[in-house]
Amino acid sequence: MPDPASASLDRHDTIRAVIHVDGALRLLDQRELPFAETFVECRNAPDVAKAIKDLVVRGAPAIGIAAAWGVVLQAALLAGAGHAVTVAALASTFDALNAARPTAVNLAWALARMRGALALAKTDPLAALAAEARAIQDEDLAANRKMGGIGAGFLDRGSGVLTHCNTGSLATAGFGTALGVIRAGFADRKIVQVYAGETRPWLQGARLTMWELVRDQIPAKLIADSAASHLMKSGAVQWVIVGADRIAANGDAANKIGTYQLAIAAKRHGVRFMVVAPWSTVDMATKRGDDIEIELRDPAELLSISGRRMVVDGADAWNPVFDVTPAELIDVIVTERGAIERPGEAGMARLAALG
Ligand code: MRU
Repeated sequence: MPDPASASLDRHDTIRAVIHVDGALRLLDQRELPFAETFVECRNAPDVAKAIKDLVVRGAPAIGIAAAWGVVLQAALLAGAGHAVTVAALASTFDALNAARPTAVNLAWALARMRGALALAKTDPLAALAAEARAIQDEDLAANRKMGGIGAGFLDRGSGVLTHCNTGSLATAGFGTALGVIRAGFADRKIVQVYAGETRPWLQGARLTMWELVRDQIPAKLIADSAASHLMKSGAVQWVIVGADRIAANGDAANKIGTYQLAIAAKRHGVRFMVVAPWSTVDMATKRGDDIEIELRDPAELLSISGRRMVVDGADAWNPVFDVTPAELIDVIVTERGAIERPGEAGMARLAALG
């Protein structure tokens, strides 16, 4: 007998952005959305590392999953050329994939899992790697569905929510983290209106989150990033719900640039602030948010929109693409292991001990 709650969520879980099929990795090209649904096909680990760097695939869990499959592709090439598939033979592959982007810990986490699976493989290392990549992908989807239910449990009926960046199916194995909570909250009739910040400069909110929400027929309005405080003051949103790229051992959370200012504004206006992320985003080895490396990208991404220069020639720009929200500004962190209200070292350690 199908679970009716799960069946109603299936309606909101229709997008797959990372697909391993026929010895290749097909990545839905997020640079082209929402106007074209095209796939980039990767046949080896350098292809995958480039796709991660260029944001063909993006979002913390999705880049971890893509990197895991990148290891599988490279291992298959090695085996095909008659070489042994070992940790040593794949060392430069692991390093290159790991270096593709610095902030989201899911990348290093997934690669560590792949390295561990390979080290333990007894008879068929290639099969062991493929099984591990599949497990990483499947577990992420299951975590998202679980977090959807846990996060929606915090919402009251009739809520308005603001989200930032893209944390949906495009950023994960499917369903999404913060967007998963929004999907579950909408299916539960708790959320009546979603607002999505456009997320300059790369426009993940405008191009990707709005695409997912419109597809799902969830009432959504795009706002300029700079309209967020004004929106909160109006009383239209009760929650800000965002994802994370790395959560430190004290609950500080790195996420897309602009998240920190949303948390400050939320505190000022009595709007609650939820961070939703699978445990693969938690980095207990990093004590505090200030220790997280923040990716700086090409200033050109800020000086142009869709390839069209918007700023006078000769102008420079500073383009950090993540920031850190201190734990004291977060009301609840939702993971698949459970939720931590008023997060801090003790709450994080409690969930870490469940692993
Ligand atoms: O630069 P991006 O698009 O990879 O940044 C993505 C984010 O910041 C997301 O909020 C985060 O990865 C959580 S996605 C489930």
